[in-house]
Amino acid sequence: MIIHTQNPVIEVHDLTASYDRRPVLWNVDLTLPEGSLIGIIGPNGAGKSTLLKAIMGLIPVNSGYVHLFGKTIDEVRSKVSYVPQRESVDWDFPASALDVVLMGRYGKLGLFRRVRPSDREVALSCLQKVGMEAFANRQISQLSGGQQQRVFLARALAQDAQLYCLDEPFAGVDIATENTIMEILRTMRKEGKTVLVVHHDLQSAAEYFDWVILLNVRLVACGPVEQVLTPELLQETYGGKLTILAKAGELLQKEQYPVREKKK
Ligand SMILES: Nc1ncnc2c1ncn2[C@@H]1O[C@H](COP(=O)(O)OP(=O)(O)OP(=O)(O)O)[C@@H](O)[C@H]1O
Ligand SMILES: [Mg+2]
Repeated sequence: MIIHTQNPVIEVHDLTASYDRRPVLWNVDLTLPEGSLIGIIGPNGAGKSTLLKAIMGLIPVNSGYVHLFGKTIDEVRSKVSYVPQRESVDWDFPASALDVVLMGRYGKLGLFRRVRPSDREVALSCLQKVGMEAFANRQISQLSGGQQQRVFLARALAQDAQLYCLDEPFAGVDIATENTIMEILRTMRKEGKTVLVVHHDLQSAAEYFDWVILLNVRLVACGPVEQVLTPELLQETYGGKLTILAKAGELLQKEQYPVREKKK
């Protein structure tokens, strides 16, 4: 089940990528609609992070290409923001939370590439949005995992991009933080931005996303959430290994999960 979009914000065309000659993404072909919240779902090692890295042009690909806004990533990099999976970041670098958020402004600095008071204000307001303003001067290495995650989201917000690629923004954050982040993402969608999120929880996925990518090296499905989060397609993605799947499948079958209304 692969549903294509007219005028896609992201076009991944016949993409194959490998590490040490072992393909981890195989012939992935998809298009994604602008102004939507999109979930990437699949088991550990499915290639979700690799897909985001390929979209960001951070890894070489064997074949195929990615177009963002109809262009290559190098032509539109300042319009695209990426938050890597937390475990993949070395948090030991010497910078305060505010410094990290200010990095999001680098693409926007003026002629002399100096941080202006207005950049500082934007950075502080982004920290405030994620509830981290009290930690502005704290070293990033001295924050908890969930706090670091929020600072990285604030950095992405400070960049004021059109497309956001977030790799597991909800991993290791408490439910209140998850709700805050979701509210921020919904506001971004209202502003016409596109948000691509790697996510592990199938039940909230039905509620969070407009569009879903099911990935397991190959693309299993890509389309509107109601059509893609079916027991059969989930089974195909996970191979029926997880017990939670049976439960999620049951729930989906009984349609106990809330049917989303478009909040646009
Ligand atoms: N730098 C690397 N060198 C070699 N193999 C890698 C590298 N990065 C990832 N892989 C392998 O590529 C496959 C896909 O990895 P990827 O990180 O994209 O998975 P994922 O879907 O994000 O998984 P998770 O849910 O655990 O984050 C895995 O088998 C992984 O072991
Ligand atoms: Mg990953």
